[in-house]
Amino acid sequence: MKVLITGGAGFIGGNFVHYMLNKYPQYEIFNLDYLTYAGDLTKHKEIEKNNNYHFIKADISDHEVIIDLFNKNHFDYVIHFAAESHVDRSIADPGIFIQTNVRGTQILLDAAKNASITKFVHISTDEVYGELDFDPDTFFTEETHLQPNSPYSASKASSDLLVRAYHETYNLPINITRCSNNYGPYHFPEKLIPLTISRALNDEKVPVYGTGENVRDWLHVYDHCAAIDLVMHQGVIGDVYNVGGHNERTNLDIVKTIIKELGKSEELIQFVQDRLGHDKRYAIDSTKLKKLGWRPEYNFETGISQTIKWYLDNEKWWKEIISGEYQTYFEKQYKIHF
Ligand code: NAD
Ligand code: DAU
Repeated sequence: MKVLITGGAGFIGGNFVHYMLNKYPQYEIFNLDYLTYAGDLTKHKEIEKNNNYHFIKADISDHEVIIDLFNKNHFDYVIHFAAESHVDRSIADPGIFIQTNVRGTQILLDAAKNASITKFVHISTDEVYGELDFDPDTFFTEETHLQPNSPYSASKASSDLLVRAYHETYNLPINITRCSNNYGPYHFPEKLIPLTISRALNDEKVPVYGTGENVRDWLHVYDHCAAIDLVMHQGVIGDVYNVGGHNERTNLDIVKTIIKELGKSEELIQFVQDRLGHDKRYAIDSTKLKKLGWRPEYNFETGISQTIKWYLDNEKWWKEIISGEYQTYFEKQYKIHF
């Protein structure tokens, strides 16, 4: 079985590459990644010599390269993670989000439609549904209308619609997964949880947007990997599956939990100007995926403790990241506040 994983040098794709090589040692895994600021291969050091692991450096929006790759290889599955993924960057500079997330996905779909693949699994996000209010009884289901609010989520919703259209028009066998916020090892330190851990460890102020009352629904990345595995092998062709573990927390709760666990002072919390168009709340109903047999294994308390420990044990990985181009990004993103 040949599996093409796009974005396998990033956070979730990288964890999924490891998951697949461990669980299916007989599968051949092709990790295609352009190695943008968010991609790094140091996380794959120990699998480099595995004969069933191959790395391809390529841009999914390079039509010629992608078509040529599919002409030369027969992939059974395409699991498509590659994307620009950070909402704040999409607010500052939407163009690359359209190029990678929309055009890049369409090029992959074009290549896949002529390649008689078994399935194309598109990794999407709950953000395509827009936002919920604070009524705890409301959830996103697969039937919720798409109402994306940021350039990032609009680009992901556009790619979802293209994936759907290639299924309807060309019979391309597809699934779409829409997951809530992930956390865990190798989470890039521009996102709330690793940002808080890395800054608190350095005794630096932790920026909380607005009042910190916005709610996200957190899922451990290993539970997300297991969900994708299930959808890949057992999902009904053409269907969408929501993924989420009912771990709703306000951003302020998340930051306070991490600061407490690290034994630091809450004086590190710095309330800053709110994100433009900041979605209030996300909460996922994953009943459909549970009917397929999926259950999350991590509760948030255990998962966040293990994640904090991972960041303590792997300082070299994130310290290298935050000392590079990240500094320029951080100053530009937060300079008005610090
Ligand atoms: P990430 O930013 O950590 O990784 C993205 C990867 O894609 C990087 O390795 C990057 O180098 C690669 N990439 C970017 N542009 C590329 C291009 N043009 N060609 C080839 N590779 C390219 O992202 P992530 O957080 O791991 O998210 C992965 C996917 O999961 C995304 O599609 C995202 O929308 C989706 N998702 C993320 C979350 C989350 O909480 N992080 C939740 C739900 C869904
Ligand atoms: O819901 C799934 C989505 O989760 C994915 O599709 C995205 O790729 C992923 O980045 C994530 O998006 P969010 O915008 O929810 O994640 P982020 O970590 O950027 O922010 C989480 C919350 O924390 C959000 O309400 C904004 C807030 N926040 C974030 C940052 C970076 C802060 O308060 N301060 C910050 O400095």
